Amino acid sequence: MCGIIGYNGKKNAIPILIEGLKKLEYRGYDSSGIAYFIDNQIKIFKEKGRISELEKLLVDDKPTIGIGHTRWATHGKPSKINAHPHRVGNVTLVHNGIIENYNVLKEELKKKGYQFQSETDTEVATALIDSLYQENDNKLEILEKAKNLLKGSYAFVIMFDDCKDTLYALREGSPLIVAKSKEGNLVSSDIPAILEYTRDYYLLEQEIAIITKNDIKFYLNREEVKKDMLTFTHDIKTASKDGYQHFMLKEIHEQPTLIKNYLDYYFNNLDLIPDISKYEKIYIVACGSAYHAGLIGAYLIEKYGNIEVKVEIASEFRYKKNFLTANSLVILVSQSGETADTIASLRLAKENKAYTLGIVNVVGSTIARESNQVIYINAGCEIAVATTKAFTLQVLTFSMLAYKLLKKNDSQLSQEVFSDYQILSDEVNKLLNFNYQEIAKKIAKHHDVFFIGRLIDYYLALEGSLKLKEISYIHSETYAAGELKHGTISLIEEGTPVISILTDITIYEKTISNIKETKARGAYSLVIARDNLNINQDIYDDVIKIPNLSDLVTCVLTVIPLQLLAYYVALELKYDIDKPRNLAKSVTVE
Ligand code: AGP
Repeated sequence: MCGIIGYNGKKNAIPILIEGLKKLEYRGYDSSGIAYFIDNQIKIFKEKGRISELEKLLVDDKPTIGIGHTRWATHGKPSKINAHPHRVGNVTLVHNGIIENYNVLKEELKKKGYQFQSETDTEVATALIDSLYQENDNKLEILEKAKNLLKGSYAFVIMFDDCKDTLYALREGSPLIVAKSKEGNLVSSDIPAILEYTRDYYLLEQEIAIITKNDIKFYLNREEVKKDMLTFTHDIKTASKDGYQHFMLKEIHEQPTLIKNYLDYYFNNLDLIPDISKYEKIYIVACGSAYHAGLIGAYLIEKYGNIEVKVEIASEFRYKKNFLTANSLVILVSQSGETADTIASLRLAKENKAYTLGIVNVVGSTIARESNQVIYINAGCEIAVATTKAFTLQVLTFSMLAYKLLKKNDSQLSQEVFSDYQILSDEVNKLLNFNYQEIAKKIAKHHDVFFIGRLIDYYLALEGSLKLKEISYIHSETYAAGELKHGTISLIEEGTPVISILTDITIYEKTISNIKETKARGAYSLVIARDNLNINQDIYDDVIKIPNLSDLVTCVLTVIPLQLLAYYVALELKYDIDKPRNLAKSVTVE
C-alpha cells in the first residue's frame, strides 16, 4: 500500500509534499518521489529508500502545485526507476493499488509505440491515459474512459502538461481524500497528511475530482455533483509521537484511555452493539491480526452466546466454496477498512444476501461504507504498522458482542462481568508498568521462539507471535499446546524460548503438562498466567501475571504483555519498530 499527497495553492508546494509524505510513510516506505510544475515544465525527483534520501535531491524551487508518493513495492523491486511519480508523454501520475490487466494494456500500448522504462503497472496506467489524451484532450472524458479500461484497484493523482494549475484525482478500491484549507487544496491517501491544514475533508468515491487553486469540483459521468464534507474528530496529537520513542509504544500506552472511552460510549449506547443471536450461521472474516481478533471473538461468542461461529482468512474465504444464505451474518474485521481481501469478502457476502457487520477503525472507509452495519472501534489514527490499540479494541468489540448475548442468557453473570469491565482500563494501566525489558533481552538473543496455548490462549498466542515476528524479525511459531507432541517438539533445544499463555481455567493444567515437556528438553519458559492459578515454579523461568477476572476482560489484558514483549525485543535489536521492513499498514492489494 502506498502514500499519495497532492497540493495546489499559493504556497511553496515542496515542503508541503515532503511533510505530507513523512506522515504517510507508514503506508509504505521503500522509495518516494515528488513532481511539480515550475516555469511551465514538470520536474520529477524520486529516489529509493526513505524520504530523507529523496530530500537530498531537491533543489530550491518554489512551485505552488505538485504531487508526491511513498511506495510499498508491488510490481518491481524498490528502485529509483520504479518509484513514483511516473511520467509518460504529457501525463505525470502517482498511484496506489494494483492494475490487474496491466500486461494486456502494456502489449496494446507497445503496438502504439510506447516504450516502458520500469517494471510497474503504474507506468502502464500512465501510458494508457496519455494514449487517450493524444486522441482527446477533454480530461473528464479520457479519465472516464480510463476507468472503464483499467481493472484492479487504483488511486491516481494526475498532472497534465497543458494544465499547469490543475490536479485530477480518481480512485477505485484504494482510498483518497480531498480537502480545502487556508493554505490551499490538498489530496491524500489518508488523514495524517492533511491534519495540520484542516480537519475537514471529502471522501472520494466514484467521482473524479478536479482540484484547482481556488476550488475543488467533483464529477460523476461528466456531471458535476456535490459531496458531503466530513470532519476528522480524533485527537490531532495522533500524528505526533508525544514524547514516546516510537508510535507503537505511544499507541500501546493510549490503550487504557481508549478502552475507558470505548466502554463509556458503548455501555451508554448498548443498542449500537447488535444482538447477533438471530442468525443461523455466523462467519468472521479478516486478515492478519484482525483474523486473530476474530478467533478470540468466535471463542467468546460460542461460549456466551451458544452459537457456532466460523472464522475465515479473507484471502481464502473470497475464493472457496461458500454456504452463505440470507440468514448468515458475516462479520468483517478491519482496522483500515481498505484491506483488499476483506473488501472482496464483504462484497461476496452481500452478493449472497448475507447480512454484513463491519468492525472498523477508519471512519468512512470502504468496509465501513459498504457493510450493512458498522461498529467503529474509535482507536484513532494508528500510525505504527504493527497494530496494537486497534487490535485490542477489535477484541474488546467481540467481548461486547458476547456480553450482549450473555446479558440475554444470564443476567446475574452479566452483572459480575459488568463490574470487571469497569476496572479493565486500570488493570491495563498496571500491566503497562511491568518490567518487560529484562525478559525481552533474553528473548532477543534467539532466532526461534515458540508460543503455545489452548483455546482462547492459543488465539492470543497467535497474535503475540505475529507481533514479535513483524517488528523483531525473529522467527516465531504458535502451536496449539496439544499439538507439540505431534512433531514440533523436535524443534525444542537447550534455551529455546517457549512463551505459554494460561488464562483459560478450564484447560490450563493440560498446557502445564506441555510446558513441562518443553522444560524437560531445556526450553526457557515464560508463562503469562491468570494470577490465581496453582502454578509450580518449576515450569517457568519468568512469569507475568494477569488478574483473575472474566475472560471477557482477560482476553484484552493478556494482549498487553504480548505487545510490549514484542516491542522491547525489537528495541533491543534496534530495528525500525514503526516501519518494519517489507510491511505496509494496510494491504489494499491482493
Ligand atoms: C499489522 O500489525 C497487522 N499484523 C496486519 O496483519 C493487519 O492486521 C492486517 O493486514 C489487516 O489489516 P486491516 O485490519 O486494516 O484489515
